[in-house]
Amino acid sequence: MHPSETIRFAKGRELEGKLIVLGMTGSIAAVESFELVRELIRHGAEVQVVMTPEAQRLMTPEAMEFASGRPVITRLTGATEHVSLLGDYPGRADMLLVSPCTANTISKMALGIDDTPVTTMATLAIGTQTPILVAPAMHLAMYENAAVQRNVQALREMGIELVGPVLQGKKARVASVEEIVERVLARFSKGDLCGRRVLVIGGSSEEPLDSVRVVSNTGTGATAVEIARAARERGAEVELWAGRMSVPIPPGLAVRSFRTVEDLMGMVSEVDHDVVIVPASLSDYAPTKMDGKMPSGRGSVDLKLRPLPKVLPLLRPRTKVLVGFKAEVGVSPATLSKRAVSRLKEYGLDMIVANDLEDVGRASTKAVIITADGKKKKHEGTKRGLADAVLDEVVKVLG
Ligand SMILES: Cc1cc2nc3c(=O)[nH]c(=O)nc-3n(C[C@H](O)[C@H](O)[C@H](O)COP(=O)(O)O)c2cc1C
Repeated sequence: MHPSETIRFAKGRELEGKLIVLGMTGSIAAVESFELVRELIRHGAEVQVVMTPEAQRLMTPEAMEFASGRPVITRLTGATEHVSLLGDYPGRADMLLVSPCTANTISKMALGIDDTPVTTMATLAIGTQTPILVAPAMHLAMYENAAVQRNVQALREMGIELVGPVLQGKKARVASVEEIVERVLARFSKGDLCGRRVLVIGGSSEEPLDSVRVVSNTGTGATAVEIARAARERGAEVELWAGRMSVPIPPGLAVRSFRTVEDLMGMVSEVDHDVVIVPASLSDYAPTKMDGKMPSGRGSVDLKLRPLPKVLPLLRPRTKVLVGFKAEVGVSPATLSKRAVSRLKEYGLDMIVANDLEDVGRASTKAVIITADGKKKKHEGTKRGLADAVLDEVVKVLG
């Protein structure tokens, strides 16, 4: 078994059975393609790397063979690799991803010139209408060159999708591996949330104790991020309202921040989304805020906490589908379900996700999804898997 097989499906099975041809061209961002290949494999893809001669000067085919587990195509031979991979035959590749893509290769693709293994793959893929995703990388001045801009536009007009570049200083940098992989995943997703507006509210609220201290909780926002990411990949227009987050927020996501439960309540009047999902860790109680900083060295201090209003009932009239979360610690599954069902009924939720926080790890979770018709679905596995399972139920409710 090739070592690359040990990471297959480490992050999901969304690309299982998909063959992606990765065309690499002569940008120094070619070094980032090693990790790109690994991430695609972690989601289950087979990746066939094809390199231009210029790309081979910057990154070795041996390294890319190690990354992908397949010999790299560095020149076309009598085996007509381009035809078997992207020709009009059954079993051809599912996508051509060109990353990084130089100004030179963009322009040649736009003009139908093929004089490298990558541009020949592109000519075939355009002819067979195989999905193509291009990640440009170059100096800003090259990207702003009028001819290059015309050719970028020509690619768009041919139905070719572009990801990035990220304009930064004098560079038009290649999009991050994370963003490219997300776009690949979106291309193969079910698209069953296309045209839907989804709001995810996540992270922890923070209730100020004084000007520098807060009462908060250990929520990380990871579930919210996974749901936002999965909904976007399924075609939804997604907004994330984020409290304190301990995980990175995916690039390109529309984000608004809140700090306290009161902040969040002030934002509720703006909710007009088809779906609202609330995996947020919101405070049930808050202290009365002291001005300045509570003095130290005073011995023990009593905190008086006042109860805070619940946000879910305010959201109910503002959306078609409302999904709540109920977290408990160290209760039996039966008690957890009972409490979740009573919350679901009390607030008129369409669905509630119940979990015991003792079963929640950094990436994994154990939860039960309970829908308004009383059906229960258990989930044990990744947070991404839970996100998909929740969205499957959301799609059913939307009808
Ligand atoms: C170290 C180095 C880095 C380069 N980086 C880029 C780049 O980021 N973007 C770009 O368009 N060209 C870049 N070039 C120039 C291309 O390699 C050159 O245009 C080449 O002809 C591209 O060929 P290809 O598109 O067939 O790979 C770079 C060249 C070198 C030597």
